[in-house]
Amino acid sequence: MCGIVGYIGSKNSVPVIIQGLKRLEYRGYDSAGVSVINSEGELLVYKKAGKVSKMEESLDLDKYSGTIGIGHTRWATHGEPNDINAHPHLDFDGNIVIVHNGIIENYKAIKKRLSIEGFEFQTETDTEILADLINFNYRRTNDFVTAVRLSLVEVEGTYGLACLCKSEPDKLVVARKGSPLLIGVGDSETIVSSDAAAVISYTKHVIYLEDGEMAIMTKNGYQLKTIEDKEILRDTEVLDLLLDEIEKGGYDHFMLKEICEQPDTIQNTYRGRINFDTGVAKLGGLDTVLDKIVNAERFIITACGTAWHAGLVGKYMIEQYCRVPVEVEYASEFRYRNPIISPRDVVIAISQSGETLDTLAALREAKKFGATTIGVVNVIGSTIAREVDAGTYIHAGPEIGVASTKAFTSQIMSLALITMMLAKYKNTIPDSTLIQLSQELLAIPAKILKMVEMKEKYKLVAESFKNAKNFLYLGRGFNFPVALEGALKLKEISYIHAEGYPAAEMKHGPIALIDENMPVVFIAPHDGTYDKIISNIEEVKARKGRIIALAYEDDENIKNYADYILPVPKTSPLFASILNIIPLQFLSYYIAVMRECNVDQPRNLAKSVTVE
Ligand code: G6P
Repeated sequence: MCGIVGYIGSKNSVPVIIQGLKRLEYRGYDSAGVSVINSEGELLVYKKAGKVSKMEESLDLDKYSGTIGIGHTRWATHGEPNDINAHPHLDFDGNIVIVHNGIIENYKAIKKRLSIEGFEFQTETDTEILADLINFNYRRTNDFVTAVRLSLVEVEGTYGLACLCKSEPDKLVVARKGSPLLIGVGDSETIVSSDAAAVISYTKHVIYLEDGEMAIMTKNGYQLKTIEDKEILRDTEVLDLLLDEIEKGGYDHFMLKEICEQPDTIQNTYRGRINFDTGVAKLGGLDTVLDKIVNAERFIITACGTAWHAGLVGKYMIEQYCRVPVEVEYASEFRYRNPIISPRDVVIAISQSGETLDTLAALREAKKFGATTIGVVNVIGSTIAREVDAGTYIHAGPEIGVASTKAFTSQIMSLALITMMLAKYKNTIPDSTLIQLSQELLAIPAKILKMVEMKEKYKLVAESFKNAKNFLYLGRGFNFPVALEGALKLKEISYIHAEGYPAAEMKHGPIALIDENMPVVFIAPHDGTYDKIISNIEEVKARKGRIIALAYEDDENIKNYADYILPVPKTSPLFASILNIIPLQFLSYYIAVMRECNVDQPRNLAKSVTVE
């Protein structure tokens, strides 16, 4: 949530910062800004409401030029997204400038104190108060690093921040608590960013900041310390990321690229983790807690958004195939409702970004009670990945589109691998079935590719429904979470109201909404619940609803019931949700494009939600 970039080196920092902000824009795009110290020692700030490109259009690059600078792309928390509330924020004296992610919870008390000291304020933001507090401490100590440090000891809340001081133009100070930052160390240049996407063009050598740490960056490197002033020695790590993974590669949108990448990303999730002759799955990252997993009394899966939907699929899988109870919890609820957790529980945190604040807090809550924690995470080196006892990376590669697609299918694949691994240890599935499942798994990428190749069919259905005002998605069993996720995709990017429901629950409410204008998507593969789903379709048809059925390619019978068909290949129920979501991703993508919505950056949303 919000993106930070800072640069100190021998180049003009502004183009570096702008390019980085564009790469981070999926984190927030309400407003953007830069600040630079020029060769005359002037501290300049330029910021605008709207996207980075809007700010860039009107920015005078001759004027805003200097070898040290910071920038920000914002997702508003305090104060509406306008020019004034955009970051960077200057302090009252114009000596300190700051960009900040997170929330300073005690800013009102600090503001009151500073106003008694004569400070006046320009904005409604908590960040401006932090700039003022740093300057207040600078006035007392005459030392930039000490001023930042003393201020951070005092603030409550969360921050990832980068700041400059006009009086000390040879250093950039950054700090982290609850909002990620990494520092890239190049040749005569050092760059800080909220994530690797903005750093990778310059260097692969990075340092991840931990909570409570700060860094003093100079053009020749960095010095790390805690905000309590203890020196820290840490070597750089090498980033495992390629530049073309974060570019559109000829696609109109990142979302389309990411949907179409799924034959490969799914393969990356299971590669090297399953023996196709024996059907035995092995996840090296879980080795250290294998005993705990096998003997768990209960699994608790915690996540937010799309990752929560993947978690629900995980519950159905683990309970059906491994016969262990599983609870699926919204992280934001779990962390605050005084949950019952025991050391015999295994808590699985699922997160694409590995930074979602509620998921991280839920994980910390579980740790307090002695539960074993495991992560199912995409972003390597992210906070959740580092804080869990053990984990498995989903290896979906960088996901830039705000609406999650390839991460969802890879999260489910990871949970399927965990299920198969556990089933083997618990002996809940015969070896012959495990072998069959592994063969089925091997066929998944080709089946996804087939759907990618028939995307025009899905586009035709989108054409018929692009003006719909509401949508209902219905499914049973493994396809209930698919219904939820299909509805979420549509509302996120096309702003059409959509609800997902268990198909039979429709009778207990949503059926009242059905008339000739209501499109109803039935996820109706020919599995154990097919007949029941057909009955549900009949109920909707009787009320003149418009039926879109997601069904097996060779299902002739469904043509008697459905007005439109989204064909899918067959697979085992364990993997069905991976295939069945793909047409729904395409459906929502094409509808959003036809409605001229900003697919990759839908309004009000952010990719990584690092505030409560
Ligand atoms: C945001 C994103 C969703 C994502 C959710 C959880 O709402 O827009 O796409 O599913 O956060 O994010 P995580 O990174 O923890 O999977």
